[in-house]
Amino acid sequence: SEPLRLGIAGLGTVGMGVVKIAQAHAAMLERRAGRPIKITAVSARDRTRNRDADLSGYAWENDPVALARREDVDLFIEVMGGDNGPAKASTEAAIATGKDVVTANKALLAHHGQALAETAESAGRVIRFEAAVAGGIPVVKALTEGLAANEIRRVMGVMNGTCNYILTRMESAGLAYDQVFEEARQLGYLEADPNLDVGGIDAGHKLSLLAAVAFGTRVSFDAVELEGIGRVSIDDIRRAADMGYRIKLLGVAQMTGRGLEQRMSPCLVPADSPLGQLQGGTNMVVLEGDSVGQIVLRGAGAGQGPTASAVMSDVIDIARGIRVSTFGQPAATLCDAIPAKATAP
Ligand code: NAP
Ligand code: HSE
Repeated sequence: SEPLRLGIAGLGTVGMGVVKIAQAHAAMLERRAGRPIKITAVSARDRTRNRDADLSGYAWENDPVALARREDVDLFIEVMGGDNGPAKASTEAAIATGKDVVTANKALLAHHGQALAETAESAGRVIRFEAAVAGGIPVVKALTEGLAANEIRRVMGVMNGTCNYILTRMESAGLAYDQVFEEARQLGYLEADPNLDVGGIDAGHKLSLLAAVAFGTRVSFDAVELEGIGRVSIDDIRRAADMGYRIKLLGVAQMTGRGLEQRMSPCLVPADSPLGQLQGGTNMVVLEGDSVGQIVLRGAGAGQGPTASAVMSDVIDIARGIRVSTFGQPAATLCDAIPAKATAP
């Protein structure tokens, strides 16, 4: 059968994870997808950089927009990052030239996902983004597939590996902020702009996507009440521990009588609770549906293997012909979240 031909824009932590899975598991992917999955072309900024893999069989494009337009690419994978610029331009170019898109880029989707999704829907294309929310945890698929028969009441969780890593390592190892920050960088957790992580913005991006999938709302990042971990001190962490609590950057989105509320902020959770026990770069997402009750998903929220695992799961779905609408339902049926300032403190 015809191969699904991939173009990968971005060969950093995530992009190289995708290359490694595609190379290491070609036969398994073909069995599961029902057709071969082949990388045909790639793009990054620096062609000379050693990426610790054989890329010689792939065409090289300096310009990700040119990559997106290539005729030998069926599916465009955007793993460069950035909420605008080349990420947006290349995603638009891919849709305009008849390609589906898989992305890990929550910043792009939080700001432009609604418009991109509607453009894709009109063109009969899909944008899939399992990797953009909670890394390796298949939470988008849990909502759009496994829990599709439920009215979702609430979604909550720890969705930024960097913040959880920093908060837990500062407490458990007694290390200074700068040291644990550097460890998080070594592990590949950080965004290109780490202020997105510690400012709670990255987690807010994820919450806005998760809420849109869960509640059938338009993506409304601007409506997220947001506070990062910048004001959390080691003394706060110790005082919380003395009282039997831990501080977590916790996101909650719930449907209320007034509409959808979304909040991302540092919260005290009991140290012996599942959330309190969450260590390192691990994420936890709690989903509450009217029929199923509460579901808890826990796993690696960042890093090369887990994120590439999520990207490739979307690739396999598309290879199989599974074309669930981007945010779980048609754009015309979506409603708006309530604005941030209107939510209760
Ligand atoms: P990264 O390691 O910084 O890699 C970014 C890649 O994009 C690099 O290969 C870079 O090229 C390339 N790039 C940047 N601008 C480009 C341009 N204008 N043209 C062509 N290539 C360009 O980033 P990452 O950690 O893999 O993250 C990628 C995306 O995945 C981001 O949206 C991020 O938010 C998301 N994500 C990351 C993780 C994670 O754990 N890291 C988890 C979930 C989602 P050079 O290598 O030549 O510099
Ligand atoms: N910087 C992000 C995090 C990567 O730390 O969770 C995964 O989205």
